[in-house]
Amino acid sequence: MNVSQIADLLQSQGYITEPAVSMAVYLSMQLKKPLLIEGPAGVGKTEIAKVMARAMDTDLIRLQCYEGLDASHALYEWNYQRQLLHLKMVEAQGTLSGQTSDLEEEIFGEKFLMKRPLLQAITHHRAPVLLIDEVDRADEEFESFLLEVLSDWQITVPEIGTIQATHIPQVIVTGNRVRELSEALRRRCLYLWIDYPDYEKELAIVRGKVPGVSQKLAEQICRFMQELRQLRLEKTPGIAETLDWATALAALHFDHLPKEIIEQTLGVILKDWKDTRTAQLSLSELYEKMGVVSKLEGV
Ligand SMILES: Nc1ncnc2c1ncn2[C@@H]1O[C@H](COP(=O)(O)OP(=O)(O)O)[C@@H](O)[C@H]1O
Ligand SMILES: [Mg+2]
Repeated sequence: MNVSQIADLLQSQGYITEPAVSMAVYLSMQLKKPLLIEGPAGVGKTEIAKVMARAMDTDLIRLQCYEGLDASHALYEWNYQRQLLHLKMVEAQGTLSGQTSDLEEEIFGEKFLMKRPLLQAITHHRAPVLLIDEVDRADEEFESFLLEVLSDWQITVPEIGTIQATHIPQVIVTGNRVRELSEALRRRCLYLWIDYPDYEKELAIVRGKVPGVSQKLAEQICRFMQELRQLRLEKTPGIAETLDWATALAALHFDHLPKEIIEQTLGVILKDWKDTRTAQLSLSELYEKMGVVSKLEGV
C-alpha cells in the first residue's frame, strides 16, 4: 500500500485528510511504530484511530487515560468476587480433593483473569488498532510503564507467566498537551501535530458529516468558526462544536446564518461563560468580518 491509497482509505471512511496526516499514518504502519498525535481538543486525533481500525477492517481497543490510572487498570485484574465465590462453592460442596495448591492454580487461571486494554491488545487474535487516548492525563510513572510495554510487547502476570504478543498492534497515542511527555516516549513514536482546521478542511468535514446542511449555511458557519478561533478564549471550540452547530442549525431549517441566531445558539459552540461574553462583545465585529469575506468571495 502507498501513501495515496492510505489517504483514499481514510477518506472513504469519512476522514478528511491532508498530506501530513496520511503520510504519518502510512509511515507508522510501514515502520510498525506507534504514532503520537498531539494538538488542541477536538481536531480529530481520536477519530484517526477509529477510522484506521475501520479502514483496516480490524478491531479498535481503547485505553482512555486519566489521572491516577495505574498498571493494573491498563493490564489485567483478578476477578476477586468470582474467585471468592468459587472458593465458597468448593467449600460448600466439600469437593476439595487434591492439594490446596491445585485450588490456588485454578483460581489464578485465565478463567478468573479480567483482561484490560493492554493485555487485550496483546492477546488479540489479529493485530488491532490500540488507541492510548489522552496519555498526558496519566502520570509519568504510568508513562514509563507504557513505554516498557510498547518496547517489549510482552506482559508478565506473576501467577500465569509471561505473555508474548501474538500480533503487534498498530498503536495511536494521543495527547492534549496537558503536560509535557517524556523524551523517551517521544523517541519511541513517530510524531504528528494536528492544528485547528483551515476553512476548506472544516467545510469539507461539515459537508461530509452533516447531511441536511445547505452549502451557504455550511460556508457561513465555517467562516464564523475561523473568526471565532482568533479571539482569546478559555476553550477554543474544535470541530466537534462546529458539527454540533451545523446539525442544530440545519435541524432548525436555516439555510443561512442570521446574526440573532448566532447569539441565541452560542451555547452550542462555547461552553464557558467568559467565552460567551467575549464572543457576544465581539459579535458585530465577527459578523462584519465574516460578511466582508463572504462578499469579497461572492458567497
Ligand atoms: N479530518 C476529519 N474528518 C472528519 N471528521 C473529523 C475530522 N477531524 C475531526 N472530525 C470530527 O470532529 C470531532 C472531534 O474529533 P476527535 O477525534 O474526537 O477530536 P480530538 O480527539 O482531537 O479531541 C469528531 O466528531 C470527528 O468525527
Ligand atoms: Mg480525543
